[in-house]
Amino acid sequence: MKTILSRTSTTEFRGEALVIGVFESETTASPHLSSIDSVTDGLLAGAMTREGFTGRKGETLLIHAPRGMDVSLLLLTGLGPAGTADRETGRMLGGTAARRLRKSGIKVVAIEIREEGADREGIRAVVEGFVTGGGGIDAYKTAKKSRRDPYRAPYTGLTLLCPGSVTKAMRAGVATGSVVADAMLLTRRLVNTPANLMTPVIMAGEARRACRASGVSCTVLNEKQLRERGFNGLLAVNQGSANPPRMVVMRYRPAEARAASKPPLALVGKGITFDSGGISIKPAKGMGEMKADMAGAAAVIGAMSAIGRLQPSRPVIGITPLCENMPSGSAIRPGDVITSYAGKTIEVVNTDAEGRLILADGLAYAVEQEPEGIVDIATLTGACVTALGHVYAGLAGNDPGWIDTVVSTSRASGEKVWQMPMDSDYDALVESEIADVRNTGKEAPGMITAAKLLEKFVGNTPWVHLDIAGVEWQKESRPWSGPGPTAFGVRLFVDLALRSL
Ligand code: BES
Ligand code: MN
Ligand code: ZN
Repeated sequence: MKTILSRTSTTEFRGEALVIGVFESETTASPHLSSIDSVTDGLLAGAMTREGFTGRKGETLLIHAPRGMDVSLLLLTGLGPAGTADRETGRMLGGTAARRLRKSGIKVVAIEIREEGADREGIRAVVEGFVTGGGGIDAYKTAKKSRRDPYRAPYTGLTLLCPGSVTKAMRAGVATGSVVADAMLLTRRLVNTPANLMTPVIMAGEARRACRASGVSCTVLNEKQLRERGFNGLLAVNQGSANPPRMVVMRYRPAEARAASKPPLALVGKGITFDSGGISIKPAKGMGEMKADMAGAAAVIGAMSAIGRLQPSRPVIGITPLCENMPSGSAIRPGDVITSYAGKTIEVVNTDAEGRLILADGLAYAVEQEPEGIVDIATLTGACVTALGHVYAGLAGNDPGWIDTVVSTSRASGEKVWQMPMDSDYDALVESEIADVRNTGKEAPGMITAAKLLEKFVGNTPWVHLDIAGVEWQKESRPWSGPGPTAFGVRLFVDLALRSL
């Protein structure tokens, strides 16, 4: 899909579809809408009143062949209250346009960029929203087989109408937005793909391909190599599965020598391609959703693919342990004790608390890379969903400065995170009588006790844990985004990598 920036004004624009963002309480008397209202001879005011359009978030008003204009469709899109516009508003605008028009047969959509959004981040957000917002998840409907890419709406172009001048920063916004959007779509596809078609081996292959295409180096450890190097947490979780495990290590190095010598940002993603619970098996209801238990790893792979293209000036390393959690005669049992990669022993109280076992290995390996900081991302606990629902990801960490960095970056990226306490008062809850640590808390709070186990494997390295169990999947579609995987974390990781030094 081609995106162009144009200085054509909305009233002079000629084309298939034109999209205009409208804030709440904005009327056709406001300078922004008055020119369109006057060229259409009051059509706009009439339609807005008749349809009761007020500019609420996600609200739309579609006008066919508006008189006085040379467009087939004019789409008004609600942006919510004025004065609160941020990147999220831009994504909403782009996404709503893409979703509302995706079945119209229109190939090229024009979106007006208002003054407040006419900068690098504003343009980037609209592009991100437009590219990701119109896609679906029905990738396995045979009737739609001929369709090119089910994860994208069928547009060939996007035209952004910019007031005033088109700057270099705005062009950079287009480039960044399309790279990040493509990365989010990669993550969405990986997460949406059923577990029989997204095994650890297949997923490692996807990572390799994505890295090759974006200039990131990629090493995949197979089962034999994992055994030789002692990744026993990953091997233990995997041992009930017929599918072999993999560990993917992706490294981005800036071209410039001074930048390349900086300590890397380390990203660690949980990659359970299917979580049955193992011997501590899950109930049947909803178990199929556990194909998405690799959403953390998918976000890391997506982010690395974008980072390779965007070339930030700090090294980034992405680590994804990948395996299935299955019950079988060879599966780990409750009561088993495993010796992790770091050498610490873990008592497996519940085989369904498997994510922390593979992350223990991934985190210990990340620590060896001497990073500036680690961020792990995992669909780790139902307890996090109980605490925060489907709005905020849970966050925990061991270093106030690093936590601040991640929290403030997430505010800009629009991925909401909420910090949980990690006081040492909680430590006793993961003490084991037989081993160094147990893999479940003795009692609630489940999200914090999971983080407490992870904390044992990061030493003094600045570390942040993101529990995305509640936010990686969106059940219902919104006016600006389809149902299914959200690709939570991709934008945050890209922004962490792009952070100024
Ligand atoms: N993958 C699940 C967590 C999960 C739950 C993700 C719901 C997405 C939605 C994780 O491996 C798990 O099973 N956690 C257990 C831990 C418990 C046994 C201590 C849980 O939360 O029940
Ligand atoms: Mn589990
Ligand atoms: Zn799991």
